Amino acid sequence: MENDNFLRACWRKEAEYTPAWFMRQAGRYLESYRKVRTEHDILTICKTPELAAKVAVEAAEQLGVDAAILFADIMLPLEGMGVGFKIVEGVGPQIDNPIRSMEDVENIGQLDPRKHVPFVLDAIGLIKNQIGDRIPLIGFSGAPFTLASYIIEGGPSRDFIESKKMMYGQPAVWARLLTKLSEMVAEYLQAQIRAGVDAVQLFDSWSGCLSPSDYEEFVLPYSRTIFDKLEGKGVPRIHFGVGTAGILKMMRRAGGDVFGVDWRIPIDEAWALLGDVAIQGNLDPATLLGNPGLIESRAKEILVRIGGRPGHVFNLGHGVLPQTQPENLRNLVGFVHSSTTRKR
Ligand code: CP3
Repeated sequence: MENDNFLRACWRKEAEYTPAWFMRQAGRYLESYRKVRTEHDILTICKTPELAAKVAVEAAEQLGVDAAILFADIMLPLEGMGVGFKIVEGVGPQIDNPIRSMEDVENIGQLDPRKHVPFVLDAIGLIKNQIGDRIPLIGFSGAPFTLASYIIEGGPSRDFIESKKMMYGQPAVWARLLTKLSEMVAEYLQAQIRAGVDAVQLFDSWSGCLSPSDYEEFVLPYSRTIFDKLEGKGVPRIHFGVGTAGILKMMRRAGGDVFGVDWRIPIDEAWALLGDVAIQGNLDPATLLGNPGLIESRAKEILVRIGGRPGHVFNLGHGVLPQTQPENLRNLVGFVHSSTTRKR
């Protein structure tokens, strides 16, 4: 690999400089993406490997980042399992028939990646062909809890009341649902690895809404089965969530080689809690809406707190906001690279 700095950082090896990529780096803030979006809706882009590859590769190239990420959505594998949904612009996923009972859960089928998500595997092949050996490609899946929250609530949620009601009031239904989802996610990520991704990220975006005890009892065992199945496959496993400062130690027990943290905790404190794993993230995406001086000072603070210790992947604490100026992200990548390049 020409630029393996991202993979080196994931394995906590010395890198030429601190690698950077951004969650949601292919999205509406980019002119080239908006152009594709005027002609196709988001799910059509996801289900057309040529389009998915185009937006993924263009984003990585325009930003000068050290990794590409598959263009897909966490909801995609659910459709083939019988959970229908739409993606509503500015809102997020909307489930046709929210899952609330054991009967609903029993009706969810098994994922056969080649049959249900061939477009994802084909997009991976195309992206790998197009980026060649220049940079690695990250595959991903939603985590069981985050997927369950969408399919139980029926859409995005602030309080996750229906999900918590199921955990506490129908624990057997919860256990069956999370078991099915974790089996699906493990199959899905293994299929992505066979198709050629160089790293995988588990997006447990909403697990930060849980108390440590609820995370431990209702989420940890399921996420752990996924990380266990992916161990020893030669690809780093990234474990990401938002608002997770209070559950980082438990997330660590669930597994992962790299941990994605948001901006509500100083990155060195998060790293101290996590121990000997790699760390990613931490810059508030809203920082990018500030002026160049502000952006550099917040980025520098992260680099100072890391202090050159191997095992740091520069990223935001959550996805790029649609209001972001692409120029600010490009300059940020340049700033991170130039201020961490090892002097020979
Ligand atoms: O990072 C990348 O460049 C890859 C692309 C990517 C998408 N979805 C494409 C997308 C990734 C990694 C995802 C994952 C995803 N999808 C997550 C986990 C990451 C996170 O943000 O926490 C979640 C929770 C979803 C569910 C989802 N899909 C939401 C909340 C939305 C936003 C709705 C909106 O209009 O703002 C989507 C739609 C979606 N998926 C977009 C993109 C680029 C929005 C742009 C569009 O409609 O074209």
